[in-house]
Amino acid sequence: KLGIAITGSGSAVPDTSLDNQALTALVETSDDWITTRTGIRQRRLALPAESLSSLATAASHQAIAAAGIKATDLDLILLATSTPDDLFGSACQVQAQLGATKAVAFDLTAACSGFVFGLVTAAQYIRTGVYQNVLLIGADILSRWVDWQDRRTCVLFGDGAGAVVLQASKSDRLLGFALKSDGSQNHHLNLAYAPSSQELVPGIHVTKGTYQPISMNGKEVYRFAIQKVPEIIDKALFQANLSVDKVDWLLLHQANQRIIEAVAQRLDIPQHKVISNLASYGNTSAASIPLALDEAVRQGKVQPNDIIAASGFGAGLTWGAAIFQW
Ligand code: ACO
Repeated sequence: KLGIAITGSGSAVPDTSLDNQALTALVETSDDWITTRTGIRQRRLALPAESLSSLATAASHQAIAAAGIKATDLDLILLATSTPDDLFGSACQVQAQLGATKAVAFDLTAACSGFVFGLVTAAQYIRTGVYQNVLLIGADILSRWVDWQDRRTCVLFGDGAGAVVLQASKSDRLLGFALKSDGSQNHHLNLAYAPSSQELVPGIHVTKGTYQPISMNGKEVYRFAIQKVPEIIDKALFQANLSVDKVDWLLLHQANQRIIEAVAQRLDIPQHKVISNLASYGNTSAASIPLALDEAVRQGKVQPNDIIAASGFGAGLTWGAAIFQW
């Protein structure tokens, strides 16, 4: 079996930040409500001149440099996002901006689970010997897709990008994983197509494409997360043949501090092993795990050989966990 290692990480967020107090000018809310219910204090927002591919490219430059390779060494670029600049995909634009001329690039959509799903997808290409050097990016600009008049959602999200380089390695550092989805619960969290019908020629109607802003049943998503995330981490740990006390860092999708704490408690993982940067960035969807990972690496928290239990969860509904050694 061919091994996989994460050999570099990077991240990028827009410069502009918006704190909870500023949101009170838009909707009936308060810093106290947002902080106590979610743990979020501020979020970064992409300005009109910024793009998903420019954020993704900035994060990728860092990850490639940290891995000590060149963009031209890359065989594959996977961009996990739900908010591409172009519905046809943005991975090829990132490829062009990086000058990764040898790589094949495509987008992968699994909402807030996108990074974990991408990690497992990238790993299959490496395990089978097809590719050796893979760039995986998680990036989202959800600020472009929320209704800024809807206090149930607009306070939660922020923009950002994170990236990792995965390489073929003699020692296999992806120790276990598990992925799940349940489309029967899809209606709890959507960024849905909103068709408007037009008669093209007499008797033939087509629909024009636009999208509705994010809609979410927060309570249901909350319930889903605190039940399914501990289960899937347990499953991935079992596959890795590891007990939970061997986990050095719990790295969850950054959606809500209460979810993070409840999952840690259910798994019996102490708070000092929990990575959280939700207060600064809010929910950055597919970016949240690689963004938090990169910060923890650069802060010197995550050390070589540390074992990380990562889990993403969100729309689909989708959820997944990956256990890897740094
Ligand atoms: N400010 C003030 N009041 C608010 C706000 C707000 N921003 N939002 C909602 N409220 C009100 C509600 O209207 C409700 O009022 P009511 O009782 O008069 O009807 C009250 O606060 C309580 O609302 P709840 O929805 O019950 O609040 P809850 O404690 O469930 O917290 C939250 C809501 C934070 C959204 C929580 O349910 C949550 O985090 N859910 C999970 C979301 C999540 O993890 N999403 C991740 C996936 S994202 C992805 O995949 C893209």
